[in-house]
Order: sequence, then structure tokens, then C-alpha cells
Amino acid sequence: MKHLFLAVIAISLIATSMSPFLTSCVKSEAMTVVSPNGKISVDLKKDSSGKLYYTVSRHGSSIIDSSRVGLECKEFRIGNNAEIKAVKHSSFDETWRPVWGEESEIRNNYNEMRVEISELSPKMIEYAVVFRIFDDGIGFRYEIPEQENIDSITIMDELTEFSLAEDGVAWSIPWNHEYYEHLYEPSLVSRLDTVCSPLTIKMTDSCYVAIHEAALKDYAAMNLRVADGTRLTSYLTPWSTGEKVFTKCPLCTPWRTMIIVDKPADLLLSRLMLNLNEPCAIESTEWIKPQRYIGIWWAMHRKVNTWEQGPIHGATTDNTKRYIDFASENGYDGVLVEGWNHGWDGDWSAEGDKFSFTKPYPDFDIEEITRYAAEKGVKLIGHHETGGATINYENQLDSAFALCSRLGISTVKTGYVNLLLDGKELHSSQYGVRHYRNVIETAAKYNVMIDNHEPVMPTGIQRTYPNLMTQEGLRGCEYDAWSADGGNPPEHTVTIPFTRCLAGPVDYTPGILNYENPVPPYTRPQCTIAKQLALALVLYSPLQMSADMIENYEGRPEFEFLRRCPTNWAKTIVPEARIGEFLTIARKDIGSDDWYIGSITNSNSHQGKIKLDFLDPNYEYTATIFADGPDADYKDNPYPVVISEIPVKHTSSLNLNLAKGGGAAAIISKK
Ligand code: NOJ
Ligand code: CA
Repeated sequence: MKHLFLAVIAISLIATSMSPFLTSCVKSEAMTVVSPNGKISVDLKKDSSGKLYYTVSRHGSSIIDSSRVGLECKEFRIGNNAEIKAVKHSSFDETWRPVWGEESEIRNNYNEMRVEISELSPKMIEYAVVFRIFDDGIGFRYEIPEQENIDSITIMDELTEFSLAEDGVAWSIPWNHEYYEHLYEPSLVSRLDTVCSPLTIKMTDSCYVAIHEAALKDYAAMNLRVADGTRLTSYLTPWSTGEKVFTKCPLCTPWRTMIIVDKPADLLLSRLMLNLNEPCAIESTEWIKPQRYIGIWWAMHRKVNTWEQGPIHGATTDNTKRYIDFASENGYDGVLVEGWNHGWDGDWSAEGDKFSFTKPYPDFDIEEITRYAAEKGVKLIGHHETGGATINYENQLDSAFALCSRLGISTVKTGYVNLLLDGKELHSSQYGVRHYRNVIETAAKYNVMIDNHEPVMPTGIQRTYPNLMTQEGLRGCEYDAWSADGGNPPEHTVTIPFTRCLAGPVDYTPGILNYENPVPPYTRPQCTIAKQLALALVLYSPLQMSADMIENYEGRPEFEFLRRCPTNWAKTIVPEARIGEFLTIARKDIGSDDWYIGSITNSNSHQGKIKLDFLDPNYEYTATIFADGPDADYKDNPYPVVISEIPVKHTSSLNLNLAKGGGAAAIISKK
């Protein structure tokens, strides 16, 4: 049996093709499964009382000690009195092409162990625990097939644990703080309270783990709570009534995932979460397009304009045309306009049910604006702020997206500014998860792409619905306009790539080039201008906003990087990375032979020597570098940017000198 299993692994290692390679199921009693490269191993064990535990090891050392699996439901419990019926092993190896992303091809290669179980609790329940082991981590989930004994299921708790073998340093945010708009703090795992995932942990100098989930559908988001020592238990976001999930058979829970890698750079390159999501459900996807956009946005956050009607209303026909002209002249695809519709006058976040998503304000001539935009080859990006009133929004979804369709508005930014949805439920509850999914699926029917603010934490469903382009779910650039604490500290942007960004694209909206006249007085981006440029490359989003007011881009040579930086990539490389300290990313454009580099640091300066060995050895290139000026410093002198051009080839290195709170950006083009 062991030999047969090894043979399956060997074959799967050889097979890398565009078509899936699936071996037939093999029945076995062994409850062990290893990764295709043999380095990560998972064991499922049953104790004498019938409780189920799993362990994870890597290179033979324990990563996860004995940890429970199971579900506590009103109607029954599983993982408590288990009887193993069958253990089935299989392997899978496929390379697939995402509609957009950080690379044009993704390999999905794993060994699967499906453990089929029956349990008397108090009725006889049949279910399976399914493990998939990749070279860079694991995923597992519970599956309860249709069966006679069960009708509806009320999940009160998931028993899933992650008992870490070491007390590592974790970068976390609290589980229920304002839709994840918080600064990640490092702390020992044993000192954590209840936090949300992704939870990134440095276990040792050569072992980094990130716990999260994949394919969250009609279920509650998973948070993590320290039970004792380094034992984390899952804590599902509850409904206001206390239950976690209302469901029925057949049930497949979201995947519980763990990226397990040697170094921080590899966290960023793991595609395990995407691989655990279902393939694209949208038949023809040619309408789904990565874009760069500008918007009537920063002006409201900076109080130059208002969302509501009045003398400085931002969303006017003339102002929008001005933005459309600028977009057209500078190669931007879209213009976001907030405050275009009825509902903003008054306390909009408390009275979200007053929002209309079809009725423009009188000074916003939507027919003329969309006609003008089409003439200029630019698209209007719609905005649906709901104030968390999802019932009001759902009642208008079809008419709102039908209007978009008719006017050629192919992207909509949504928003949910309110601590509770409909005054009652948390964003990350099953209630919220159902709503967000409804919006994405309805938008897809009308060929509309979504940029979702105040979301539930992403889990990779953009593989299935690639019209879900990007989401917020982090403390973004808006805090640099008005946050009383002065804006996002330099550490924040070198931490989020290793935490929130592991969950998927972020609409952080960098690109502020003018820090003058702040309100409140000390609030502004806490970084140099060169770092603002680099963030547009480092923080991946297929919809990338250059967030400043357009007048702040006039006459600024460094703006060239923002207006050229693509949003869809053939390849991504991470030459250097240290969580909370520094990060350099190189990406190859999908539509040309150009490479782009972004490098960022925290409040310390950083000297990076980036080998360009990823360039094609048959060509010579020119690197245009946007670097911090010699005296630049994020606190006292954020503006100086030096732009230089040097010849480079695959044997060259780029010496990047990053100021305190600084950055560097580069475009490398074939000569
Ligand atoms: C919060 C969003 O994150 C921001 O981008 C938007 O401008 C405001 N809500 C208003 O909808
Ligand atoms: Ca927000």
C-alpha cells in the first residue's frame, strides 16, 4: 500500500499540464497524507473515546500538535465519537489560467486524503474530513452529504483547533474591529485575544505559517481565539442570536488553510487559497478587465468637496468631465464618482435605507456624463454606498445594475459604513457573507465588476467570480486624510502584504503626491512620495486607484510611474521581504515585455541590492528608477524624488537606497 501511495505522488510530480490529472481513489487504512514534495505531512488520529485530532509536521518537525477537528451543532456533534469507514487517497495536478492576477498561470498540485466517518450522535451521521496537502501548506474541510437522518443543521461552534508547536510571533488585528480597519500588531501567539484571519505567524527563523480560510460561502467567517498556551480554536462570527451557521445537507464547509513556508517572501507567492476555490463560474469573461482609475474621492475625504449636495458638491457634471478628460489624456480606464446619488444628505451611515442607487442628484447628468465618457474612451465607475442597509440595497440590486448596464458602467464600488448590517448583524457573519455573495452573483449577471469596501475578509472566491475584482477590508489610504492618529504609520504598509493581502487583492488606493494643508493638522501619508509610487506595485489590485485629486498630478514628473504601472501580471517575484520591515516585489507586465519593481521600507532606511536575473538574458534593457532623493525622509522631507535612467541586463543588480519611511519604483523596458 505504501508503495502504491508513493507511486501516486511520483506520477503527480511529473504531470504538469493544462489539463487536470486525477488518480483514481485508493482505499487505505493509513490516515497520513504528505505534500507532493514529501516535506509536509498531516496525520489524522482517533483517540480511544472516538475524538478526532490532526497533526501537521514539516521536515519531520511538528508545526501543529494534536488539534481537534469537529462541529458542534444543535442537532448533533461530529468529531466526538467517530468511527472511520474509509480513507481514500488521491492526487491532483493542474495548471490553470486566472482571468487576471499576479501571474498568468497557477499550478494546483496536491495530495488529498478523504476520511469517511460515521458517528452516533445521537442519530447516525455520515460525514467526511477532507485534507489537501500542497508543497506550501494545507487545507481541510468538513463535508456532510445528503442523508436520511439530517434535515437542517444549526452550527453552534466549530471545534477546529490549531495547536501551534511553538509560541511564535503573530501579526494580528482584533476580530470585530470596524471591518478590519486596524493596524496589525506583532505579539506572541500565547498573548493573543480573539483575532481574525489571515493570522501570520513567525514560528522560527525558517518557518512561517499563515492560518486563514478558502471558499467562504453561506457560512460564517472564521476568527481565531487562544484557548490556552499556543492552542488556537476557531471562533465563527455569530448571528445576533448567538448561532453561528444555519444550513442543511449537503454541506461543504469553507476550507481551513495554513500556508507553511521557509521565508516571508514565499507567503506572498502561495496560491493555495485560490487553488481551494472552485474554478470560474462565469461562462464568458471577456468583459472582466483589470483597470487603473482615478476618482472624485480624496477631495471628499480632505473636505475640499462634499458627498452631499451643497456649494462644494464633488459629483457635478462639470467636475466629472474634468476627471474624464484627465483620465483620457493619461491612459486611465475609469473615473470613480462618489456622492452622485440621493441619500447622502443627513446622517447617511445611520440612514442607509435612504440611499437610491438609480436616482442621481440634479447636478449630476448621468446620461450626458456616460455619453461623454464613452466618447473619450473612459468608463464611469459607479458607487453604491449602502450605510450597511443591505435590505434596502438588495431591493434595488436588479434595477441598479440594469441602470449600470444600460449606461456602460461596468464597475461598481460598494460600501457598508456601519458597525452592523441592517442595525443587527456583523459584516463577517453568515448574514453578511450571504449578502456579499448575492451582490457579486447579481453583478455578474449584468456584466458588472465589483470593488467592495467594508467587506467580509476575502477568501479567494474571485477565482469563481472574477468580477469580484478587489476589496478593502483593511486600514487604507483614507486614514491618511482624516485619522486623528496622523495616518497610517510606515510599518503598516510593510506589514499588510504579509497579513491582509494574503486574503486577496486590496483597494488600498495609494498615489497621494500632495501632503499640503492637512486636516487634522498632522494627518497625512506617513511615507515619502517614492513610497507612494511603489505601493501601487506592491499592494496588488486588478483595479488600482491613483487616489489624489488630479490637480496634484499636474507638473509632477514622478506621476509617470502611477500612470504607467499595470494591474495585470504575467509573473511575480519577491527578491527580499521581512515582515514589518521591508519588501521588494518585481512583476512582469502581461501585455508587454516590461518589468516593474516596487520597494518599500518602514521608519528605518533600507539599502536593497536587487538582482535582475529574472530578465531575459538575450536582451538589454533600460531601467527608469524613481528613488527617494538624498535627503528624503518621511517625517521632515517626504517630497524629493530622483528619476534616473540606467542600462541594465540580467547580470545587473539595482542598488535601491530607501529613505526612512521611503521607497523606490522602477520600470525596466527592453531597449
Ligand atoms: C468608506 C470607504 O472605504 C471610502 O472609500 C468611501 O469613500 C466612503 N466609505 C464613503 O462611501
Ligand atoms: Ca473603509
